[in-house]
Amino acid sequence: MSDRPSSDEPAHLVDTRGSQGVQIGEHNKQVNKFIQTNVETLIVQAPPNAGDMSTPFTAPGLPPHFVPRPNELEGIVEHLLDASGTRPRPGVVVVHGGAGFGKTTMAAAVCHDERIRAAFGDGVLWLQFAETTTRDGALALLQIQISLLDPQAHAANDISPASAQFRALLAGRAVLIVLDDVWSHNLLRYFIDVDTTCLITTRLEAVLSRAGG
Ligand SMILES: Nc1ncnc2c1ncn2[C@@H]1O[C@H](COP(=O)(O)OP(=O)(O)OP(=O)(O)O)[C@@H](O)[C@H]1O
Ligand SMILES: [Mg+2]
Repeated sequence: MSDRPSSDEPAHLVDTRGSQGVQIGEHNKQVNKFIQTNVETLIVQAPPNAGDMSTPFTAPGLPPHFVPRPNELEGIVEHLLDASGTRPRPGVVVVHGGAGFGKTTMAAAVCHDERIRAAFGDGVLWLQFAETTTRDGALALLQIQISLLDPQAHAANDISPASAQFRALLAGRAVLIVLDDVWSHNLLRYFIDVDTTCLITTRLEAVLSRAGG
């Protein structure tokens, strides 16, 4: 198996470094306050299919004081959809930029976009990586996705067969895969396939270049 995704489509880069308008300072305090005081509202506003296990949607919500970045969002959505704008386009889109620049929030906004929800009718799978994610952590992520895609499945305990299971379950399904905060380019091969549409966020040039094939 190659280290690199075998898609003919080049990866597309969205660099958030030039973007403006993110206020980070008080944000976490505001989020905590919002969660404490608005739990009921959050439950009421859950998406209509949140309880539908057959259509997984595991992207996080948007921050309460979300500032839209329409230019960047349009660029990403355009590359995730085919020319008709209504169907998935196989390939990899990378959101690359420094710490706290809003990569994860941008990816979440993309997942909640109505066009993305409509085109990826079989769901959105958000896979949360971190600097500490090891091969075992990646296996656990694969096992979670397998159980979301097929609650009856018995996920493999090794990463290569689990990756094969994951790919088999995705075949023929319109699912958007989001790999958030990827630090190890060596793990990408287990998650990206020629037929899948994948959105990656990362701080690292190495991940960007590897995902770019
Ligand atoms: N468009 C936005 N509107 C409001 N808040 C935002 C926006 N973008 C980012 N933030 C806030 O800024 C903080 C950092 O954003 P985010 O986590 O998306 O950055 P990141 O680039 O993914 O960082 P990291 O490299 O650490 O993963 C968060 O608290 C987030 O809620
Ligand atoms: Mg992030």
